[in-house]
Amino acid sequence: MERMKLPFGFNIAIVACTFLLLGVYALALNDDGYISAVGDPGMKRDGLRVAIESWNQCNEVLEEAPNMGSPRMADCFDVNYHGTKVKLDHKVHKKQNMLGVSNNPYAKLRALGADKFAAWKELYLGSRCEVLDTPRPWQFWMIMLKSGNMDTLAAVCPKNGFKAEPFNQTTQFPCFGKGCMNMPSMYHNYTNVYDDEERKIMKGGFYGSWDLNADATKAFDTNDTSYYSVTWEKEVGNGSWVFHNVLKTSSKYPWLMLYLRSDATRGFSGGYHYETRGMSKIVPKSPHFKVRFTLDIKKGGGPTSQFYLMDIGSCWKNNGEPCNGDVTTDVTRYSEMIINPEAEALCKPSRLIECPPYHTFANGTRVHRNDTANFPYGAYHIYNAPGNAMYLEKPVRTTDPYSNPQPQEILQILPHPVWGEYGYPTKKGEGWVGDPRTWELDVGRLSQSLYFYQDPGTKPVERHWPSIDLGTEIYISKVGQVAEWTVSNFDIIIPKEAY
Ligand SMILES: *[C@@H]1O[C@H](CO)[C@@H](O)[C@H](O)[C@H]1NC(C)=O
Ligand SMILES: *[C@@H]1O[C@H](CO)[C@@H](O)[C@H](O)[C@H]1NC(C)=O
Ligand SMILES: *[C@@H]1O[C@H](CO)[C@@H](O)[C@H](O)[C@H]1NC(C)=O
Ligand SMILES: *[C@@H]1O[C@H](CO)[C@@H](O)[C@H](O)[C@H]1NC(C)=O
Ligand SMILES: *[C@@H]1O[C@H](CO)[C@@H](O)[C@H](O)[C@H]1NC(C)=O
Ligand SMILES: *[C@@H]1O[C@H](CO)[C@@H](O)[C@H](O)[C@H]1NC(C)=O
Repeated sequence: MERMKLPFGFNIAIVACTFLLLGVYALALNDDGYISAVGDPGMKRDGLRVAIESWNQCNEVLEEAPNMGSPRMADCFDVNYHGTKVKLDHKVHKKQNMLGVSNNPYAKLRALGADKFAAWKELYLGSRCEVLDTPRPWQFWMIMLKSGNMDTLAAVCPKNGFKAEPFNQTTQFPCFGKGCMNMPSMYHNYTNVYDDEERKIMKGGFYGSWDLNADATKAFDTNDTSYYSVTWEKEVGNGSWVFHNVLKTSSKYPWLMLYLRSDATRGFSGGYHYETRGMSKIVPKSPHFKVRFTLDIKKGGGPTSQFYLMDIGSCWKNNGEPCNGDVTTDVTRYSEMIINPEAEALCKPSRLIECPPYHTFANGTRVHRNDTANFPYGAYHIYNAPGNAMYLEKPVRTTDPYSNPQPQEILQILPHPVWGEYGYPTKKGEGWVGDPRTWELDVGRLSQSLYFYQDPGTKPVERHWPSIDLGTEIYISKVGQVAEWTVSNFDIIIPKEAY
């Protein structure tokens, strides 16, 4: 990015003009004929926009953690260059970040309850962080936290979108007792500028623990204490932001998730039935988009860490109509490639229940899962059908009905030669610990070819992906596990002729 090499001496107006000129130049002479779908292509903009959110098992809040406010916070700033000095102009201050349903002075907002208040706060933070690029404003990268604990006796999570009945705890859902679905603590180091010899480094972070009695600053080093942190760092005027992520499970919180998401700037995003804010100012559509990023996994997170090289989320109804917020008929659709080499293909000739009905090769040829000579079983971890689908081919396993506000469909794939065509890993271990890589994944063409359910005879939907995520889900770990990784240079690109 040319603009990053500008000396600090330029005043803002000149810098802005230069950006514009360089932008036009870049468009006209673009090397590869692509435009970016995200507000901050390649994470190269000095003025960062990042937010954090926390979800319980059914993607709600239920109850705020004490003295933490609503679990939506943001770190957004513009950079003012004064000669050799650099000053950050923060858009969101502590007062706004600490807003909660219980601590705010407006009766109307308090009346929303913790779930709807969080959705409101996301829009509010979005309005403060919004970058007014025309014609498409955008807001922030979203860091998403989620705990899989579920109190089945409390029956707070709906079942496929309908009110659930209490049931006895099983091993399917961890819960240590009342209050097991709590939100984590959420502490914030506002981004600041640090001198490093000749260079100016900007650095900030969020961190916390689901174990609310723990000292969050020590939780990483404390035995059997959950922890997360996301820190970001960038040299002023050079390179990409580098997001450094850490996630640690504990016996009380054995199932945790941490993702960096590029969500749509409006409408719904994957798994979230409220209006959303995000970074994807163009919602990418299959088959015409690619995702680029650099991923360096330092610690894998143990055998059950489902590290998603790419997690894509969308929503459409089984009859092919777009989602409209009706949780009883909207269906979240997810697909993920798990790159932990310990993840096995559960789909096998003897276990067709774990496989999608058919596989489509890159050349368009379809093979049914009962075609044992040709079906690529090793390419699939699991397939889970929507719980409300009426015309499923048997044998079939439907998705757990509680972990989403509405029914969902999940297709999890594994590194395999059939995905090589799309730039994805073809062998176990590629891109894993000790093998940092910059990926350019043809997520658009891959997601066009994947099996997703629709009622027979309905017109195949255009597949739009309002959520494009990267990160790990440590799924019910037997002992405390730590995952650690960095993400940089993230971009979603669309060929100009498809735009
Ligand atoms: C649930 O647990 C209670 C107490 O352990 C037991 O009495 C009851 O039979 C269980 N219900 C079911 C449906 O298993
Ligand atoms: C927050 O700031 C403190 C003090 O500078 C530092 O020790 C800590 O590592 C930072 N943590 C994160 C997650 O940014
Ligand atoms: C750490 O916690 C685990 C689980 O509670 C326990 O089994 C282990 O003894 C603890 N180790 C230390 C050194 O305290
Ligand atoms: C930009 O950052 C890279 C990586 O840290 C470094 O190698 C390079 O020298 C820097 N360039 C400038 C102009 O500072
Ligand atoms: C399509 O690709 C598959 C897998 O490589 C191959 O078996 C099949 O013969 C190809 N079909 C056509 C029509 O080329
Ligand atoms: C495989 O499945 C298809 C579709 O359900 C069916 O038509 C075909 O008879 C099956 N073949 C075998 C060998 O079971």
